[in-house]
Amino acid sequence: MKKTFDQLLLTTSLFCLVLTSFLVLPSLAAAQAAPVPNAQLAAKDLNARVEALLKKMTLEEKIGQTVQYSAGFATGPSGSKLSYEDLTQRGAIGSLLNVQGAEQTNRFQHIAMDKSRLHIPLIFGMDVIHGQHTIFPVPLGLAASWDPKLIAGVAHTSAIEARADGLSWVFSPMVDISRDARWGRMVESAGEDPYLGSAIARGWVLGYQQNDLTKPDSVAVSVKHFAAYGAAIAGRDYNAVDMSDITLRQVYLPPYHAAVDAGAATVMSSFNSINGVPATANPYTLTQILRKEWGFDGFVVSDWGAVSELLNHAIGPDGATVARKALEAGVDMDMEGNLYGTTLAAQVRSGQIPESVVDEAVRRILRVKFALGLFEHPYTPVTPPYAPTAENRAQARAVAAETIVLLKNDPVEGAGALLPLSKSAKTVALIGPLADSAKEMLGSWGALGDPKFAISLRQALQERLGDHLLYAKGCEILSGNDANVLRHVSFIDQANPPSSEVTEAVPDDAKTIAEAVETAKKADVAILALGESADWMTGEASSRAHLDLPGHQEQLLEAVAATGKPVILVMFTGRPNAIKWAGAHIPAIVEAWYPGMEGGHAVADVLFGDVNPSAKTPVSFPRATGQEPLYYAQMPTGRPAHGDLSHLPTNAQEKFMSRYLDEDNSALFPFGWGLSYTRFSYSQPAVSKAQVSRQDVAEGHAPGLTVSVDVRNSGSVAGTEVVQLYVRNTSASVEQPLRELKGFARVTLAPGETKHVEFPLGFDELSFYNVESKRVVEPTTYKVFVGGSSLASEETSFQVN
Ligand code: NOJ
Repeated sequence: MKKTFDQLLLTTSLFCLVLTSFLVLPSLAAAQAAPVPNAQLAAKDLNARVEALLKKMTLEEKIGQTVQYSAGFATGPSGSKLSYEDLTQRGAIGSLLNVQGAEQTNRFQHIAMDKSRLHIPLIFGMDVIHGQHTIFPVPLGLAASWDPKLIAGVAHTSAIEARADGLSWVFSPMVDISRDARWGRMVESAGEDPYLGSAIARGWVLGYQQNDLTKPDSVAVSVKHFAAYGAAIAGRDYNAVDMSDITLRQVYLPPYHAAVDAGAATVMSSFNSINGVPATANPYTLTQILRKEWGFDGFVVSDWGAVSELLNHAIGPDGATVARKALEAGVDMDMEGNLYGTTLAAQVRSGQIPESVVDEAVRRILRVKFALGLFEHPYTPVTPPYAPTAENRAQARAVAAETIVLLKNDPVEGAGALLPLSKSAKTVALIGPLADSAKEMLGSWGALGDPKFAISLRQALQERLGDHLLYAKGCEILSGNDANVLRHVSFIDQANPPSSEVTEAVPDDAKTIAEAVETAKKADVAILALGESADWMTGEASSRAHLDLPGHQEQLLEAVAATGKPVILVMFTGRPNAIKWAGAHIPAIVEAWYPGMEGGHAVADVLFGDVNPSAKTPVSFPRATGQEPLYYAQMPTGRPAHGDLSHLPTNAQEKFMSRYLDEDNSALFPFGWGLSYTRFSYSQPAVSKAQVSRQDVAEGHAPGLTVSVDVRNSGSVAGTEVVQLYVRNTSASVEQPLRELKGFARVTLAPGETKHVEFPLGFDELSFYNVESKRVVEPTTYKVFVGGSSLASEETSFQVN
């Protein structure tokens, strides 16, 4: 009988499959063995201890390990008569967050160690985001340093201070790629780029964990928010995320992967859904990618209440169902949700959830507790309350100075650039709602940072200028109805109720703006300190639909500029604001983000040239909000605004292109942009090989070629340049961005000095995801651009055959 084509295909495929399984699969399996990113968590003796303990645990005790509560704001879970102390004693809690200080953590730990049946220590976690007591710049600012080592130093100091408070776990780093400045949590991120974001993620993890969780100055990290939380539609926090698998893998996942590869002990699942499946019940991201592909051996904690919020996502009719979905997808610990503790045991007893699934979650949690040495060292010596040491202050100041971006420094009427300010006494008018606020310097997530230790810009300038400093507030950050609405809905931190500033009547800005103008008239130069409230306009649940300067700050700026006095604009913000008018009319603009405890000093150091700025923005600055999401690594379009449209009729070439009718496409200040008080010049980059084979740049192979460039300091002061390398793949099976960062180096040069910089390129830099979600390198020509920003114009190319 004649076989149909389909039958033939089936027989042939079956034959091939059998053959393949003999010939190919064993070697494939060997090649694809899951990596072991953290050897401590995978260690045999550690896992033997875990198994031995697991055997002794009742079902309730096992589930207890998966329960985490915040003991910061309440005495016990809502709706329960039991206190956190009672629950700890019963072994019904595995972790607490927001317990402040060693005395309190010890108190709870004694209950766990002395009174619970199995003496399993609690693990205490907290949002240590940019410092615990010594507060550093916000993460977005830290990213502007392009200096992972500096960030590792910040993480290490934070780890020491966290440990002193009894914490062994920090909910950091936040590595969500953020390309939409409307999203308030951009402030916690490393910005828009996966390559930079990955390097920074590694810096954080190495600094916190130091490759050894047992060290008394290491803490476990929680990489968050897994996954793709930063891609919330329309930049609205907690909103859904919808993207292709290619974009997920190529743009959003790399920083989480880098953190896991660096040994991250825990991961936090995010609030958003991804392509319809909530991230907190998503087996694809939490099990397939995180555990199977990346080999993650630590545990996953949900974000705050994210398990119970699965009910709002409507993926199950009741708490029990959604808790089961979260657990089975790979969420091991339920943060503050109450659902694991209240619903899992019955479901295991009824057979709906195999006990082995609970066991696996408990194993992962215990592994981290053992690895941290909590069983041996559960307590923390109580030390005197924190007061910043000279060393703390020096580190905070030096770090902050590296994060301040000089966006613009144009000459003024032929008189040269305004910055750095001359040290000879001139009268300076300091104006603006951010000028005199030590508290705002601490940023969106200042942990236990105390504003009394923070230095405002006014204080720092006062120290330098004495009587030559004039000051006027000018206006409030937000005024009138906008202020009332925002202040009303802003997150109320129950431990730190709103200050009187938040509730008092809003003063009349017109009057204070007029006063500021008079102050400016008396000075030689005006410094305007403008921006957002760190507290209630940036961070969680702080999306903005209007990215212009808030309130009446634009009017204040324009009124002061109208005096004709030279104006320096210093921005304190958690995201790029749309400062188009300032970009065109203000000669000197500095982005200071929220620079931390020593922020005022650090800004003054840059303004007066004691520090030559070297930071580069990790996010693109829009001209108008409508450009968001705005990022440099745009995909090509068939109708580029600045490209070949010769296939269109001549009269159509003016109109039918990808652009806004009412705004430029480009950023006001692009990704990677930042000026110095010196100038850098670049040679044309050179490639070590004009052609490489695909084997030379295959996975596991050493980088197949290098790109090199000579960078010269052609100005008159020493300076540090962040040399950036971008590639463009000119012909691929899946379209690739117009430019992608694939290398950077911080290079410090004396005046007149030249340094040779080399960038290796191999599989990691040149591969991309094809339509089958496989990472490949294909034959193509790569263009390479090297320079001091994403506009880098020095160019070369090479081929992959
Ligand atoms: C919610 C936030 O999304 C997350 O970043 C934080 O770590 C937790 N709350 C714990 O406070």
